[in-house]
Amino acid sequence: MTKIAVLPGDGIGPEIINEALKVIKAVSDKINIQFDFTFCDVGAIAIDKFNTPLPNKTLNACKKSDAILFGAIGHPKFDNNPNLEIRPEQGLLKLRKELGLFANLRPVKSYKELLSLSPIKQEIIDGVDMLIVRELTGGLYFGDKKTDNNISTDICTYSVLEIERVTNIAIEYAKKRRNKITLVDKANVLETSRLWRKTVQNIATMHPEIELDYMFVDNAAMQIILNPKQFDVILTENLFGDIISDEASVIGGSIGILSSASLGNKMGLFEPIHGSFPQATGKNIANPLACILSGSMMLNYLGMIKGSEMIQKAVEKSLLKKITTTDINKKNPYNTSEIGDFISRYITKNY
Ligand code: IPM
Ligand code: MN
Repeated sequence: MTKIAVLPGDGIGPEIINEALKVIKAVSDKINIQFDFTFCDVGAIAIDKFNTPLPNKTLNACKKSDAILFGAIGHPKFDNNPNLEIRPEQGLLKLRKELGLFANLRPVKSYKELLSLSPIKQEIIDGVDMLIVRELTGGLYFGDKKTDNNISTDICTYSVLEIERVTNIAIEYAKKRRNKITLVDKANVLETSRLWRKTVQNIATMHPEIELDYMFVDNAAMQIILNPKQFDVILTENLFGDIISDEASVIGGSIGILSSASLGNKMGLFEPIHGSFPQATGKNIANPLACILSGSMMLNYLGMIKGSEMIQKAVEKSLLKKITTTDINKKNPYNTSEIGDFISRYITKNY
Protein backbone atom coordinates (compact mmCIF):
# COMPACT_ATOMS: atom_id res chain seq x y z
CA MET A 1 0.00 0.00 0.00
CA THR A 2 1.43 3.38 -1.01
CA LYS A 3 0.84 5.98 1.69
CA ILE A 4 -0.03 9.49 0.59
CA ALA A 5 -0.50 12.40 2.99
CA VAL A 6 -3.05 14.78 1.46
CA LEU A 7 -2.84 18.41 2.62
CA PRO A 8 -5.60 20.42 0.90
CA GLY A 9 -4.75 23.61 2.83
CA ASP A 10 -6.54 26.90 2.20
CA GLY A 11 -8.70 28.71 -0.34
CA ILE A 12 -9.16 26.69 -3.51
CA GLY A 13 -6.84 23.97 -2.12
CA PRO A 14 -9.63 21.52 -1.15
CA GLU A 15 -11.40 21.95 -4.52
CA ILE A 16 -8.35 21.29 -6.69
CA ILE A 17 -7.19 18.44 -4.44
CA ASN A 18 -10.58 16.76 -4.94
CA GLU A 19 -10.03 16.75 -8.68
CA ALA A 20 -6.44 15.49 -8.41
CA LEU A 21 -7.65 12.63 -6.20
CA LYS A 22 -10.42 11.75 -8.65
CA VAL A 23 -7.78 11.45 -11.36
CA ILE A 24 -5.32 9.49 -9.18
CA LYS A 25 -8.10 7.06 -8.26
CA ALA A 26 -8.90 6.51 -11.94
CA VAL A 27 -5.22 5.76 -12.55
CA SER A 28 -4.91 3.47 -9.54
CA ASP A 29 -7.75 1.30 -10.87
CA LYS A 30 -5.90 1.02 -14.18
CA ILE A 31 -2.46 0.20 -12.87
CA ASN A 32 -3.72 -1.85 -9.92
CA ILE A 33 -2.07 0.10 -7.17
CA GLN A 34 -3.69 0.76 -3.83
CA PHE A 35 -3.22 4.15 -2.24
CA ASP A 36 -3.85 4.90 1.39
CA PHE A 37 -4.74 8.61 1.73
CA THR A 38 -4.41 10.45 5.06
CA PHE A 39 -5.98 13.93 5.11
CA CYS A 40 -4.30 16.59 7.28
CA ASP A 41 -4.73 20.29 8.04
CA VAL A 42 -2.11 22.89 7.17
CA GLY A 43 -2.05 26.68 6.81
CA ALA A 44 -4.80 29.13 7.77
CA ILE A 45 -7.30 26.38 8.40
CA ALA A 46 -4.90 24.74 10.87
CA ILE A 47 -4.36 28.10 12.60
CA ASP A 48 -8.14 28.48 12.97
CA LYS A 49 -8.48 25.00 14.45
CA PHE A 50 -5.25 24.47 16.40
CA ASN A 51 -3.53 27.88 16.52
CA THR A 52 -0.56 26.55 14.54
CA PRO A 53 -0.08 26.35 10.75
CA LEU A 54 1.61 22.94 11.02
CA PRO A 55 0.12 20.74 13.76
CA ASN A 56 2.33 17.87 14.95
CA LYS A 57 -0.28 15.43 13.75
CA THR A 58 0.18 16.72 10.19
CA LEU A 59 3.96 16.65 10.37
CA ASN A 60 3.96 13.11 11.74
CA ALA A 61 1.53 11.86 9.10
CA CYS A 62 3.78 13.40 6.42
CA LYS A 63 6.86 11.74 7.88
CA LYS A 64 5.13 8.37 7.79
CA SER A 65 3.98 8.67 4.18
CA ASP A 66 5.67 7.83 0.87
CA ALA A 67 4.72 11.17 -0.67
CA ILE A 68 2.68 14.29 0.04
CA LEU A 69 0.08 15.93 -2.17
CA PHE A 70 -0.39 19.58 -1.28
CA GLY A 71 -3.13 22.01 -2.36
CA ALA A 72 -2.54 25.68 -1.54
CA ILE A 73 -1.73 27.89 1.41
CA GLY A 74 -2.59 31.43 2.54
CA HIS A 75 -5.52 33.60 3.53
CA PRO A 76 -5.95 37.36 2.98
CA LYS A 77 -6.77 37.98 6.64
CA PHE A 78 -3.06 37.38 7.38
CA ASP A 79 -1.52 39.16 4.41
CA ASN A 80 -1.64 42.81 5.34
CA ASN A 81 -0.90 42.62 9.02
CA PRO A 82 2.87 42.63 9.50
CA ASN A 83 2.48 42.33 13.28
CA LEU A 84 1.14 38.78 13.23
CA GLU A 85 3.51 36.17 14.56
CA ILE A 86 1.62 33.15 13.31
CA ARG A 87 1.11 32.95 9.52
CA PRO A 88 -0.18 30.20 7.23
CA GLU A 89 2.95 30.19 5.01
CA GLN A 90 5.07 29.17 8.02
CA GLY A 91 3.34 25.79 7.78
CA LEU A 92 4.71 25.13 4.31
CA LEU A 93 8.15 26.50 5.11
CA LYS A 94 8.43 24.36 8.25
CA LEU A 95 7.26 21.32 6.34
CA ARG A 96 9.96 21.87 3.70
CA LYS A 97 12.62 22.33 6.36
CA GLU A 98 11.57 19.47 8.65
CA LEU A 99 11.30 17.01 5.78
CA GLY A 100 14.54 18.21 4.16
CA LEU A 101 12.86 19.04 0.85
CA PHE A 102 15.82 20.93 -0.55
CA ALA A 103 15.15 20.72 -4.30
CA ASN A 104 12.10 22.26 -5.90
CA LEU A 105 11.48 21.28 -9.52
CA ARG A 106 9.24 23.57 -11.54
CA PRO A 107 8.78 22.55 -15.17
CA VAL A 108 7.65 25.27 -17.57
CA LYS A 109 6.57 24.45 -21.09
CA SER A 110 4.31 25.98 -23.66
CA TYR A 111 1.27 24.03 -24.80
CA LYS A 112 0.29 24.65 -28.43
CA GLU A 113 -3.35 25.14 -27.44
CA LEU A 114 -2.45 27.89 -24.97
CA LEU A 115 0.05 29.90 -27.01
CA SER A 116 -2.41 32.69 -27.72
CA LEU A 117 -3.15 33.17 -24.01
CA SER A 118 0.30 34.37 -23.13
CA PRO A 119 0.97 38.11 -23.42
CA ILE A 120 4.32 37.11 -24.97
CA LYS A 121 4.50 36.68 -28.78
CA GLN A 122 3.75 33.14 -29.92
CA GLU A 123 6.97 32.69 -31.89
CA ILE A 124 8.96 33.44 -28.75
CA ILE A 125 7.22 30.89 -26.53
CA ASP A 126 6.37 28.13 -29.02
CA GLY A 127 8.63 25.19 -28.13
CA VAL A 128 9.72 26.38 -24.67
CA ASP A 129 10.60 23.47 -22.39
CA MET A 130 12.55 24.39 -19.29
CA LEU A 131 12.94 23.11 -15.77
CA ILE A 132 13.58 25.50 -12.91
CA VAL A 133 15.47 23.81 -10.08
CA ARG A 134 15.06 26.03 -7.05
CA GLU A 135 16.96 25.46 -3.79
CA LEU A 136 14.23 25.29 -1.17
CA THR A 137 15.54 25.10 2.39
CA GLY A 138 18.26 27.77 2.55
CA GLY A 139 19.03 31.38 1.76
CA LEU A 140 17.08 34.42 2.90
CA TYR A 141 14.00 32.35 3.69
CA PHE A 142 15.68 30.49 6.51
CA GLY A 143 18.53 32.72 7.71
CA ASP A 144 18.43 34.56 11.04
CA LYS A 145 15.88 37.35 11.17
CA LYS A 146 15.54 40.20 13.59
CA THR A 147 14.14 43.66 14.15
CA ASP A 148 15.85 46.04 16.58
CA ASN A 149 15.34 49.77 16.97
CA ASN A 150 13.60 50.20 13.64
CA ILE A 151 16.19 48.15 11.78
CA SER A 152 15.35 44.75 10.33
CA THR A 153 17.73 42.08 9.08
CA ASP A 154 17.33 38.88 7.07
CA ILE A 155 20.53 36.89 6.72
CA CYS A 156 21.31 34.94 3.53
CA THR A 157 23.49 31.91 4.20
CA TYR A 158 24.49 28.98 1.98
CA SER A 159 26.90 26.15 2.71
CA VAL A 160 28.83 24.17 0.10
CA LEU A 161 26.85 21.11 1.13
CA GLU A 162 23.50 22.81 0.54
CA ILE A 163 24.63 23.95 -2.90
CA GLU A 164 26.12 20.57 -3.81
CA ARG A 165 23.05 18.48 -3.11
CA VAL A 166 20.68 20.62 -5.17
CA THR A 167 23.26 20.90 -7.96
CA ASN A 168 23.44 17.11 -8.13
CA ILE A 169 19.67 16.99 -8.63
CA ALA A 170 19.90 19.63 -11.38
CA ILE A 171 22.59 17.55 -13.10
CA GLU A 172 20.56 14.36 -12.81
CA TYR A 173 17.59 16.04 -14.51
CA ALA A 174 19.70 17.87 -17.12
CA LYS A 175 21.05 14.49 -18.21
CA LYS A 176 17.52 13.27 -18.84
CA ARG A 177 16.86 16.44 -20.87
CA ARG A 178 19.22 18.50 -23.06
CA ASN A 179 22.33 18.50 -20.84
CA LYS A 180 22.35 22.25 -20.27
CA ILE A 181 22.33 24.10 -16.94
CA THR A 182 22.13 27.84 -16.49
CA LEU A 183 23.13 28.93 -13.00
CA VAL A 184 21.18 32.06 -12.11
CA ASP A 185 22.77 34.18 -9.39
CA LYS A 186 24.06 37.64 -8.51
CA ALA A 187 27.75 36.79 -8.31
CA ASN A 188 28.76 40.34 -9.21
CA VAL A 189 27.37 41.47 -5.84
CA LEU A 190 26.67 38.62 -3.42
CA GLU A 191 29.16 36.48 -1.53
CA THR A 192 26.72 33.55 -1.42
CA SER A 193 26.37 33.73 -5.21
CA ARG A 194 30.15 33.47 -5.60
CA LEU A 195 30.10 30.33 -3.46
CA TRP A 196 27.34 28.97 -5.70
CA ARG A 197 29.47 29.58 -8.80
CA LYS A 198 32.58 27.96 -7.32
CA THR A 199 30.69 24.93 -6.05
CA VAL A 200 28.64 24.38 -9.20
CA GLN A 201 31.75 24.79 -11.37
CA ASN A 202 33.59 22.16 -9.34
CA ILE A 203 30.79 19.64 -9.66
CA ALA A 204 30.36 20.36 -13.37
CA THR A 205 33.97 19.36 -14.11
CA MET A 206 32.93 15.82 -13.15
CA HIS A 207 30.15 15.86 -15.75
CA PRO A 208 31.76 16.90 -19.05
CA GLU A 209 28.56 16.22 -21.00
CA ILE A 210 26.85 19.05 -19.14
CA GLU A 211 27.08 22.49 -20.69
CA LEU A 212 27.11 25.00 -17.84
CA ASP A 213 26.53 28.69 -18.23
CA TYR A 214 25.82 31.55 -15.87
CA MET A 215 23.44 34.45 -15.79
CA PHE A 216 22.89 37.27 -13.33
CA VAL A 217 19.35 37.16 -12.01
CA ASP A 218 18.40 40.60 -13.33
CA ASN A 219 19.45 39.60 -16.84
CA ALA A 220 17.75 36.21 -16.41
CA ALA A 221 14.47 37.96 -15.57
CA MET A 222 14.76 39.72 -18.93
CA GLN A 223 15.96 36.68 -20.92
CA ILE A 224 13.03 34.54 -19.71
CA ILE A 225 10.74 36.93 -21.58
CA LEU A 226 13.03 37.80 -24.53
CA ASN A 227 14.31 34.34 -25.41
CA PRO A 228 13.01 31.58 -23.13
CA LYS A 229 13.95 28.81 -25.58
CA GLN A 230 17.62 29.22 -24.66
CA PHE A 231 16.94 27.56 -21.29
CA ASP A 232 16.97 23.87 -20.46
CA VAL A 233 17.60 23.59 -16.70
CA ILE A 234 17.80 26.76 -14.62
CA LEU A 235 19.51 26.19 -11.28
CA THR A 236 19.10 28.89 -8.66
CA GLU A 237 18.80 29.76 -4.98
CA ASN A 238 15.59 29.98 -2.99
CA LEU A 239 14.40 33.59 -3.40
CA PHE A 240 15.53 34.02 -7.02
CA GLY A 241 13.77 30.74 -7.87
CA ASP A 242 10.57 31.88 -6.19
CA ILE A 243 10.50 35.06 -8.24
CA ILE A 244 11.54 33.78 -11.66
CA SER A 245 9.21 30.78 -11.51
CA ASP A 246 6.16 33.04 -11.20
CA GLU A 247 7.58 35.09 -14.05
CA ALA A 248 8.15 32.01 -16.21
CA SER A 249 4.58 30.84 -15.60
CA VAL A 250 3.47 33.59 -18.00
CA ILE A 251 4.97 31.50 -20.80
CA GLY A 252 2.52 28.67 -20.13
CA GLY A 253 -0.44 31.01 -20.51
CA SER A 254 -1.77 30.49 -17.00
CA ILE A 255 -0.23 30.00 -13.58
CA GLY A 256 -3.09 27.55 -13.10
CA ILE A 257 -1.25 24.80 -14.97
CA LEU A 258 2.16 24.86 -13.32
CA SER A 259 2.98 21.96 -11.04
CA SER A 260 6.00 21.34 -8.86
CA ALA A 261 7.88 18.68 -6.95
CA SER A 262 9.85 19.36 -3.77
CA LEU A 263 12.35 16.59 -3.20
CA GLY A 264 14.56 15.53 -0.33
CA ASN A 265 16.65 12.44 0.17
CA LYS A 266 13.71 10.24 1.02
CA MET A 267 10.55 12.28 0.62
CA GLY A 268 8.67 14.17 -2.05
CA LEU A 269 5.97 16.83 -1.80
CA PHE A 270 3.93 17.74 -4.86
CA GLU A 271 2.05 21.00 -5.22
CA PRO A 272 0.82 23.61 -7.69
CA ILE A 273 3.01 26.70 -7.79
CA HIS A 274 -0.03 28.99 -7.55
CA GLY A 275 -1.49 30.26 -4.30
CA SER A 276 -4.82 29.81 -2.54
CA PHE A 277 -6.77 32.17 -4.89
CA PRO A 278 -9.17 33.40 -2.16
CA GLN A 279 -11.47 35.22 -4.60
CA ALA A 280 -12.36 31.91 -6.24
CA THR A 281 -12.79 29.86 -3.08
CA GLY A 282 -15.89 27.70 -3.06
CA LYS A 283 -16.99 28.83 -6.53
CA ASN A 284 -15.88 25.70 -8.44
CA ILE A 285 -14.04 27.87 -10.99
CA ALA A 286 -10.36 27.35 -10.12
CA ASN A 287 -8.13 25.55 -12.58
CA PRO A 288 -7.29 22.10 -11.14
CA LEU A 289 -4.67 21.27 -13.79
CA ALA A 290 -1.62 22.36 -11.78
CA CYS A 291 -2.75 20.10 -8.94
CA ILE A 292 -3.64 17.23 -11.28
CA LEU A 293 -0.22 17.56 -12.95
CA SER A 294 1.41 17.63 -9.51
CA GLY A 295 -0.29 14.27 -9.00
CA SER A 296 1.35 13.11 -12.23
CA MET A 297 4.76 14.23 -10.94
CA MET A 298 4.04 12.34 -7.72
CA LEU A 299 3.30 9.10 -9.54
CA ASN A 300 6.49 9.53 -11.57
CA TYR A 301 8.45 9.98 -8.33
CA LEU A 302 6.85 6.84 -6.91
CA GLY A 303 8.04 4.92 -9.97
CA MET A 304 4.56 4.66 -11.50
CA ILE A 305 5.73 6.03 -14.82
CA LYS A 306 2.83 4.71 -16.86
CA GLY A 307 0.25 6.21 -14.52
CA SER A 308 2.09 9.51 -14.57
CA GLU A 309 2.03 9.57 -18.38
CA MET A 310 -1.67 8.68 -18.49
CA ILE A 311 -2.42 11.84 -16.53
CA GLN A 312 -0.25 14.00 -18.76
CA LYS A 313 -1.86 12.68 -21.92
CA ALA A 314 -5.36 13.14 -20.50
CA VAL A 315 -4.53 16.73 -19.49
CA GLU A 316 -3.26 17.44 -23.02
CA LYS A 317 -6.51 16.02 -24.36
CA SER A 318 -8.55 18.33 -22.13
CA LEU A 319 -6.59 21.31 -23.45
CA LEU A 320 -7.07 20.17 -27.03
CA LYS A 321 -10.82 19.81 -26.54
CA LYS A 322 -10.96 23.14 -24.69
CA ILE A 323 -12.41 21.49 -21.61
CA THR A 324 -10.79 24.14 -19.46
CA THR A 325 -11.57 26.65 -16.74
CA THR A 326 -12.19 30.35 -17.18
CA ASP A 327 -8.52 31.41 -16.84
CA ILE A 328 -7.85 29.58 -20.12
CA ASN A 329 -11.28 29.48 -21.70
CA LYS A 330 -13.14 32.75 -21.29
CA LYS A 331 -15.84 32.03 -23.86
CA ASN A 332 -17.09 28.66 -22.79
CA PRO A 333 -15.55 27.81 -19.43
CA TYR A 334 -15.96 24.50 -17.61
CA ASN A 335 -16.09 24.11 -13.82
CA THR A 336 -13.27 22.80 -11.66
CA SER A 337 -15.12 19.54 -11.07
CA GLU A 338 -15.97 19.09 -14.76
CA ILE A 339 -12.27 19.14 -15.60
CA GLY A 340 -11.56 16.39 -13.07
CA ASP A 341 -14.55 14.42 -14.37
CA PHE A 342 -13.34 14.65 -17.97
CA ILE A 343 -9.74 13.71 -17.18
CA SER A 344 -10.61 10.79 -14.91
CA ARG A 345 -13.21 9.49 -17.37
CA TYR A 346 -10.73 9.80 -20.23
CA ILE A 347 -8.27 7.65 -18.27
CA THR A 348 -10.95 5.09 -17.37
CA LYS A 349 -12.14 4.80 -20.97
CA ASN A 350 -8.90 4.96 -22.91
CA TYR A 351 -6.35 2.88 -21.03
C1 IPM B 1 5.96 29.15 -3.44
C2 IPM B 1 5.25 30.09 -2.52
C3 IPM B 1 5.89 30.01 -1.14
C4 IPM B 1 7.31 30.45 -1.27
C5 IPM B 1 5.14 30.80 -0.05
C6 IPM B 1 3.70 30.39 0.06
C7 IPM B 1 5.84 30.69 1.27
O1 IPM B 1 5.26 31.37 -3.03
O2 IPM B 1 5.94 27.94 -3.19
O3 IPM B 1 6.54 29.61 -4.43
O4 IPM B 1 7.62 31.64 -1.24
O5 IPM B 1 8.18 29.57 -1.40
MN1 MN C 1 6.18 31.59 -4.99
